[in-house]
Amino acid sequence: MKFAQIVGWGMHVPDKVIGNDAFVQMGLDTSHEWIASRTGIHERRFVENGQPVSDLAVKAAQQALQVADAHPSDIDLVILATCTPDQVMPSSASFVQHRLGATKAGAFDLNAACAGFVYALSTAAAQIESGRAETVMVIGADELSTHLNWQDRTTCVLFGDGAGAVLLRASDEPGIMASTTGSDGSGAGLLEIRGGGTLANSNGHASNGNAFLTMKGPQIFRWATQKLGEAATKVIEESDLTVDQVDLFVPHQANLRIIDAAARRLGLPEEKVFSNVDTYGNTSAASIPIALCEAISQDRVHVGDNMILTSFGSGLSWAALVIRWGTPIPSSVPRWTPIRLSLETRVAAVRSAFKKSQRAVRATIGERLNKDGD
Ligand code: COA
Repeated sequence: MKFAQIVGWGMHVPDKVIGNDAFVQMGLDTSHEWIASRTGIHERRFVENGQPVSDLAVKAAQQALQVADAHPSDIDLVILATCTPDQVMPSSASFVQHRLGATKAGAFDLNAACAGFVYALSTAAAQIESGRAETVMVIGADELSTHLNWQDRTTCVLFGDGAGAVLLRASDEPGIMASTTGSDGSGAGLLEIRGGGTLANSNGHASNGNAFLTMKGPQIFRWATQKLGEAATKVIEESDLTVDQVDLFVPHQANLRIIDAAARRLGLPEEKVFSNVDTYGNTSAASIPIALCEAISQDRVHVGDNMILTSFGSGLSWAALVIRWGTPIPSSVPRWTPIRLSLETRVAAVRSAFKKSQRAVRATIGERLNKDGD
């Protein structure tokens, strides 16, 4: 039996830091005290100058390749979990695949909103376990700041932008041990962005505020505290573990009160729960891989540890999985690895420019031939 093992990891967040006071300065009727005490959030990052989500994703993925000392051409599949793609089509994963120079890889976006990264990990693990893929890049990246209504204090203070990635490789040792995914579309209206889809477009309502995220926060809060615990319990039981054997719980970073309530329900002590919602807010599909990277850099992940990842979000959707950590944490990256990766990225850029000009030449020749034929 093959297992999917995380062998590389990386994260990227925009430089622009927005503290809670920035919302007060914008004229919003809120305060640092309210936001910090009701959510645990102190600051978040927002993209600037139209930086696309694929750009954040590429940077996180490059770091994951670096940690794993892997080549972009090793990747069989790129799965990008996002609900804020660069454009409706093609998938943002295609841009990422191309920019990484992952010439052998298939690529697709997966939209399960904030639950997307754990959904994507579960999907990638199934590909590896079935033998269809050996190496899969799984990325969670979102820019919900591009959908926030700056007049709505109940939503705009909660979210941030960012990306996180892991490289999965087939291994004889576990690995991802169990996973669950769930959906309850009856709650679709509780958290949504209505614009950008066929419904809004065919109704002629593509604009007019439909691009804004709307949410019924208290209902989501009640549902999430229950669902996080339920999903975690399910995968713990499926892996034949007990709660005592869980070394680290990495939940979706939406609200510290949700995380604390879920941990209490599970009976997990504070030291086994990871949270960084104070620094990044809710980065949607990026929240778990970013938390994972920070847990690793804070020496909270060790070989043999049992980790639970749980996520929830719009859909309503949720997912959870158990990982037995199997990769030693490298103390440093070999000196030549960043140089090699930077060269590979440049080669990918030159290859891209070459392919584009080849296509342009072919199109021009085709047009000429058609004209001559007329
Ligand atoms: N600043 C100041 N006051 C605020 C505020 C803000 N940013 N946002 C809401 N309020 C006000 C409300 O208007 C309300 O005022 P009212 O009593 O005069 O009507 C009051 O605070 C209480 O609002 P309520 O919504 O009941 O607060 P809450 O304790 O439930 O906290 C959330 C609101 C949004 C923080 C909380 O419900 C939550 O985190 N929900 C889950 C959201 C989530 O995780 N979404 C992402 C899922 S992936």
